[in-house]
Amino acid sequence: MKGIILAGGSGSRLSPTTDSINKHLLAVFDKPMIYYPLSVLMLGGIKEIMIVSTPEDKPRFEDLLGDGSELGISFTYREQADPNGIPEALTISEDFIGKDDVTLILADNIFYGQGFTTLLRNAIQNHKHATVFGYRVKDANRFGVVEFDHNQKVISLEEKPEDPRSDFAVTGLYIYDHKAVQEAKKLQPSERGELEITDLNKAYLNRGQLNVELLGRGFAWMDAGTHEALFEAAEFVKITQQRQGFKLACLEEIAYYLGYISKEALYKKGKSMEKNDYGQYLMEIAERKHTQQYWDSIDRHPMLGLVENE
Ligand code: DAU
Repeated sequence: MKGIILAGGSGSRLSPTTDSINKHLLAVFDKPMIYYPLSVLMLGGIKEIMIVSTPEDKPRFEDLLGDGSELGISFTYREQADPNGIPEALTISEDFIGKDDVTLILADNIFYGQGFTTLLRNAIQNHKHATVFGYRVKDANRFGVVEFDHNQKVISLEEKPEDPRSDFAVTGLYIYDHKAVQEAKKLQPSERGELEITDLNKAYLNRGQLNVELLGRGFAWMDAGTHEALFEAAEFVKITQQRQGFKLACLEEIAYYLGYISKEALYKKGKSMEKNDYGQYLMEIAERKHTQQYWDSIDRHPMLGLVENE
């Protein structure tokens, strides 16, 4: 399974904040926005990740994230010359995807909730054709909307409908087989002049090949695409972290728990930032004593908010 993060776009909805900085580099409380979707791909067990951004911003992401070796994974980078639409991420990455399946995530999407790692890993493992993730929202008309029957069989998909047929938004996390690349090439721009991810998903739906996984009411999904949403996301991260003492989307911590980097590497990284809370957190994790069972068990992962087994 390959992973793609789409971190381009014009950022016009957050202007003037994003006039000279890419939206996905803005802080969501104590770390750059892109850390959150990156953590999702990592928790899903994906180790080969391509980051797609604008020609101007690509070097900034390279500067921030490097080649991934510090996290025991691999990052490569590609340019999207113009914000022509989300499906373009797939055609741009055609050679990277090859014959593999691919998980695509939008870089302004934040997912958090107990059991997410398990849900995602199961979805990846059992995945056939195309899978989207539905989440109930109050303002479905801002999103792609999925309607399904009592067997969770998808009936319809609409992009930002005036009058949504359901309350379930399609989140910015998609799993596809490699055929999605060829499907994406067939798409035509919508009225707003973009290739629509919803049209790609409809192509799978029309063949009876679209699966929807639902994220339940105990789950938090946010897209930080407006000033309000960005502020709320930062507040959510701050409150959750402060309450539990676990950081959300701490990439080095995840890499450590997944066995990608050593305790020494984690400590060293923390030490390089020891004057701030993030660095101190890494050092503190590296110094903790855990049982082997704790390290081995993904479901005891602190990212899931479970009680520590010490
Ligand atoms: O967040 C989930 C929603 O994302 C879905 O429910 C919608 O179906 C989907 O169309 C998308 O809606 P948005 O209105 O949020 O899309 P937006 O144009 O804001 O782009 C989402 C992210 O992708 C954003 O962080 C910028 C990036 N992007 C977008 C486009 C169109 C790119 O990097 N390149 C692009 O060409």
